[in-house]
Amino acid sequence: MLAPPPRRPVPGLVVPAMAGEGMRADNARAGSRRRLSLDSTADMNASTLPAGETAALLDLGRQYYLPVYRPRELVLERGQGSRLWDSEGREYVDFAAGIAVCGLGHNDPDLHAALVEQAGKLWHTSNVFYSEPPLRLAEELVSASRFARRVFLCNSGAEANEVAIKLVRKWAASQGRPPAQRVIVTFRGSFHGRTLAAVTATAQPKYQEGYEPLPGGFRYVDFNDIVQLETAMAAGDVAAVMLEPIQGEGGVMPAASGFLQQVRALCDRHNALLVLDEIQAGMGRSGTLFAHWQDGVAPDIVTLAKALGGGFPIGAMLAGPKVAEVMQFGAHGTTFGGNPLAAAVARVALRKLASPQIAANVSRQSQALRDGLMAIGSETGLFAQVRGRGLMLGAVLAPQYAGRAGEILDFAAREGLMVLQAGPDVLRLVPALNITDADVAEGLARLRRAVDAFLAPR
Ligand SMILES: Cc1ncc(COP(=O)(O)O)c(C=O)c1O
Repeated sequence: MLAPPPRRPVPGLVVPAMAGEGMRADNARAGSRRRLSLDSTADMNASTLPAGETAALLDLGRQYYLPVYRPRELVLERGQGSRLWDSEGREYVDFAAGIAVCGLGHNDPDLHAALVEQAGKLWHTSNVFYSEPPLRLAEELVSASRFARRVFLCNSGAEANEVAIKLVRKWAASQGRPPAQRVIVTFRGSFHGRTLAAVTATAQPKYQEGYEPLPGGFRYVDFNDIVQLETAMAAGDVAAVMLEPIQGEGGVMPAASGFLQQVRALCDRHNALLVLDEIQAGMGRSGTLFAHWQDGVAPDIVTLAKALGGGFPIGAMLAGPKVAEVMQFGAHGTTFGGNPLAAAVARVALRKLASPQIAANVSRQSQALRDGLMAIGSETGLFAQVRGRGLMLGAVLAPQYAGRAGEILDFAAREGLMVLQAGPDVLRLVPALNITDADVAEGLARLRRAVDAFLAPR
């Protein structure tokens, strides 16, 4: 097991209670947590915000945000490891990690140090000039990837997929294939991001409706159905097949055993590229640094984001030998991509997430979470199935509870637990990869209380 990261004093931060003495959200303010700081005058359990300020902040969100999100009615203020505190002083176990982003938890001391050190040197150069952190990161990503020759650094997952899609098209164009022969096949249930091309690659109508006309040249087939894929490629007009080794937003659905190898074989037969979106499943979350290592395939393009920056926005597209030289001067660009602050943090995140200790912890906590979810499922009848790989787990609701994952998230938050849903029918657990035994145990205990409250007659 990993040792929890050393804790630095943070104003207003309290050490979470250990497993077994864990706090419920509703007694958080009763003061049963131990104080971290030696400052005996400060009330460490109190929020840094004046009374009434939380409601005022929530009002700001309602008034000024484009209402495309429906966040829970709380304002998060601080994080340490796999615990979070809100502006009312309530403490939470974090099984969400900012949607699979905070792979090293909150306030990791090494990420913090890298950011602060770089902040004192140089924040931004644009890609008109070089700076050291992104240069080093590019080399380290290529070497860690075992397949890539070149890297394009950007700011998010959607952007990484956008450049992957553009690279596929350029590659096909460089072979003299007309636009009609540059089709990209993606899979139903996929999620590739919200830019117009990425949302078109995302084969889920709910993300596309109202944004038509969508870019052309995409074709959709069922996930894990190799016969459908073969049919979709039969005409010889497919330039790439793009997929997540484990579908995330679509319900935490892993590729079936052997499926990626079959896809690779079809791509080879039809002179098409294999593009893997590892934005959620990558960076160690599946149990190996890259999820596709477990499938035994060599991709042509891989996209990364989320945990790559440990919470600092950064994305990357990794290009293998077939495509690495296709895009030349002026073919693509970004102002912020490869920003030195982001790259300095990502270098440390990559080094730590690639470590054997992280892989061992992912395997250990994956088993603990699976066992805990299976126990809750068999005792309450709430779950029909637990699936996923590593620390990307989905608990599928039994048919009689279909569509109610969002409600369970509300009960969980009330019990002091952050979890996610993947669609309306699946609870999604994507905690930090260095989560401790105590945090897993406490989170599962809170989940059990949340499930009991959800199932209680009302
Ligand atoms: C597999 C996958 N691809 C792409 C994206 C889009 O990433 P971003 O939200 O950083 O644009 C996500 C985000 O959830 C994702 O899970």
